[in-house]
Parts: sequence; C-alpha cells; structure tokens
Amino acid sequence: MPSTPSTDVIRDAVALACRAPSLHNTQPWRWVFDGVALHLFSDPARMLAGTDAFGREMVISCGVVLDHLVVAMAGQRWRTEVHRYPDPQRRELLASLRFSPVMLLTNAEHDRAVAISRRHTSRAPFGAVADWAHYESVLRSVADDYDVDLSVLPAAAHPELLRAAEVYASLRGQDAQYLAELRWWSSHPDVVEQQVAADPGASRPGWAGRVAPQRDSGWDEADLSDDRATVLVLSTPGDGPLDCLRCGEALSAVLLECTVAGLATCPLTHLTELPASRDILAALIGRVAAPQVLVRLGIPPQERNLTAHTARRHVADVLEVVS
Ligand SMILES: Cc1cc2nc3c(=O)[nH]c(=O)nc-3n(C[C@H](O)[C@H](O)[C@H](O)COP(=O)(O)O)c2cc1C
Repeated sequence: MPSTPSTDVIRDAVALACRAPSLHNTQPWRWVFDGVALHLFSDPARMLAGTDAFGREMVISCGVVLDHLVVAMAGQRWRTEVHRYPDPQRRELLASLRFSPVMLLTNAEHDRAVAISRRHTSRAPFGAVADWAHYESVLRSVADDYDVDLSVLPAAAHPELLRAAEVYASLRGQDAQYLAELRWWSSHPDVVEQQVAADPGASRPGWAGRVAPQRDSGWDEADLSDDRATVLVLSTPGDGPLDCLRCGEALSAVLLECTVAGLATCPLTHLTELPASRDILAALIGRVAAPQVLVRLGIPPQERNLTAHTARRHVADVLEVVS
C-alpha cells in the first residue's frame, strides 16, 4: 500500500468534501496538493464583506469543508493529520493535511462519508425528535471533540429568539451594503442560492429567516406554526480565527451525525452577525462563550423535503495540484 494518496484519491476526496455547506453557498475555499500534503486556504475574494464583516462565517465555512475532507479521506481508508494555521505569516493558509493509510474502515466512518452527499439544508418546518436525550448526549460529545460548546435552546427561549430576529431585521433593513450583497449574491451564476428562493421553506417563520416571510410560499400558516425543530447553538471559548475554524469542523460533525440519524438540519448565522442580536443569544445560552452558529434540526416533513441539491464549483476550480 502506498504511503501517500494519489492525486486521484485527493481529487475525489476534495470533490466530495466540497459538498460542504457554506454561507450562501459561497464555497470560500481553495485547495493545493503538493504530492504529499494537502493545504486548505480561505478565498477572501468569496467573502461577503457586507454580511460577514470580520470573515468569521468564511472561516466557519472553511472549517466545515476541512472536516468533510477528513471524513471523505477516512471513507477511502486514509487517516488525516491536521495542522491548523501552520504558518502565522499566512493567515489564509488554514490547515495543512498529511495522510497515512489504514486497513480498517469502521461502519461509523463509512456512514459519515456516505452522509456527505445526502446532507442538504432544509428550511422546512421540522417534526420533534423523539428520544432527544439520546441524540443530545451524542451531539454534545461530538462538539466536545472540537472544544466547541453545544447549547440546546428550550422552547421557552423562542420569544427571545424572535426578539433577536426583530432587532437583526430592523438593523439589516437599513443596511444598503448588506441588502445589495444579498441581492447580487442570490443571482450569482456560481451560487446557487436561487434554490433557496425557490425553496418554500425559505419562508421560515419568525426568527429563522434573514428576510421577511413570503406569504406566497408552498407552506401554509398551520405548517409554519407547527414547527417542532430543536435549536442548538454552537459557541466557542474565544472569537478568533482558530475558534471559528474549530466551530466549522464541529458544525460539520454535528450535521453529518444528524444526517446519518435521518434528521433534517439547517445552519443559521444571521443572528450572530450583528452585536445587538448576538448579545441576546449570548444571554440565552448563559455561558461566557461566543455564539457562532445555530442549527435547527428535526424530523423532515413527509414528501416536502425534495429540494434539488445546491450546485458546487467544479473540483478543477478549487483544487490546484503542484509538483
Ligand atoms: C457558516 C454558514 C452559515 C449559514 N447561514 C445560513 C443562514 O443564516 N440561513 C440559512 O437559511 N442558511 C444558512 N446556511 C446554509 C447555506 O445557505 C447552505 O449550506 C448553502 O446554500 C448550500 O446548500 P446545502 O447546505 O443544501 O448544500 C449557512 C451555512 C453555513 C455553513
């Protein structure tokens, strides 16, 4: 067995990993394979400065693709050693990865790799998860592995979520740069968030939508008010680049674990973008930690979660092979 993966193995793994979710499907990453190590870079040209002023969501998105890559390589029987921010002089170099072959592929590793292609963001109302206590302890230990805190928001917290969303919407409603960026990006050919506009779940009620609910959605009011999603908040001890990268990795692991279990998911970051709504979230989780991402999860609705998968950039556009 070779001691380093071939370019074909890397290309397949990168293509699969790039199914990772990202803010508005921006896919703000690029990869370089030098024959031995694979390097992950952020791509600031794809950062949305009006939405994501500090690049936190860009780095979180890159953390997701990083963990997806590790899962994809495990699916091909390669163990990955990750060196995060290996060069302090190059902040865009987020991680360098080296690989060693393994003989065994566990069922759990196989299931997670398969889940990458099945996972997608659903903005529909969800059913309640039975046996939540079991899932909660699994997801907590998943997030723990990345030093990321996972809080579950009880139903009693939802009025505060709604208040945070109102604060957010009123500030963003006057933010010309944000609105222009959202409009421009949602019609970008690469992107891709057109599916979001076409997705009836984009009219999610209350706090979960970035924009005002559309009344002509495929969901009626009864569907929308019957949402029984569980809401998680992923938070980090600090708010620096490494925190964001680790948070993205934890987000990947949580989403894939849910997908393996047949649960639908939706990551949400709008409420963490502005200090005013982020402070409300921080008070809700009751910890000294920086809230980074919310995740709605639950039982997918019957027959209505048939949204087409969002597109991705071609692997040749995100992976450079150098010798
Ligand atoms: C860091 C991050 C932030 C996101 N923020 C939101 C959000 O605020 N609202 C939303 O509906 N979806 C959000 N998403 C989901 C993306 O829009 C979605 O992943 C992307 O359009 C690709 O679609 P897919 O997840 O179905 O593959 C976010 C995803 C990530 C990784």
